[in-house]
Amino acid sequence: MPHVNDCQLFDIRTIFDHRGSISFAEAGIDIEFPIRRVYWIYDVPSGSKRAGHAHYNLEQIYIAISGSFDVLIDDGEKKRTIHLNRPNRGLMLRSGIWREISNFSSNACLLVLTSDLYDETDYIRNYNAFLAAVQSGKFSNQG
Ligand code: TYD
Repeated sequence: MPHVNDCQLFDIRTIFDHRGSISFAEAGIDIEFPIRRVYWIYDVPSGSKRAGHAHYNLEQIYIAISGSFDVLIDDGEKKRTIHLNRPNRGLMLRSGIWREISNFSSNACLLVLTSDLYDETDYIRNYNAFLAAVQSGKFSNQG
């Protein structure tokens, strides 16, 4: 069963020099899944929340490219809130984990690396349906 503790924060390789910093991630080296899609969320109005769903199969990495926000992760038993505020820090989000994103700063940009193409049938958007999926062992072969 997926567990919030399987959603690890990690440092992204970065070269710092007097001209500024460059961070990078290579599939198969820094990122354990082949990256099939990237998307980014920005211009989030103050007080807005994003996500509020889980995925059956998709794995994702969240990076606060600029600004900051909070990511609540929930495995159906345990919850954790992680503050992301550095462009060289990634949060691995496993499938079978409920997530909600809030407290976006005014200049926040969230970059998401994902293991698959967009597929609405991979989403669980109802929290009670998520809890039912956890209890029926739908995610038991993962995590
Ligand atoms: P969604 O993943 O539901 O974002 P959030 O949970 O933060 O609201 O996506 C919002 C809308 O954007 C939804 O209609 C689906 C669409 N979308 C795509 O078409 N492709 C994508 O890669 C993503 C992430 C979303």
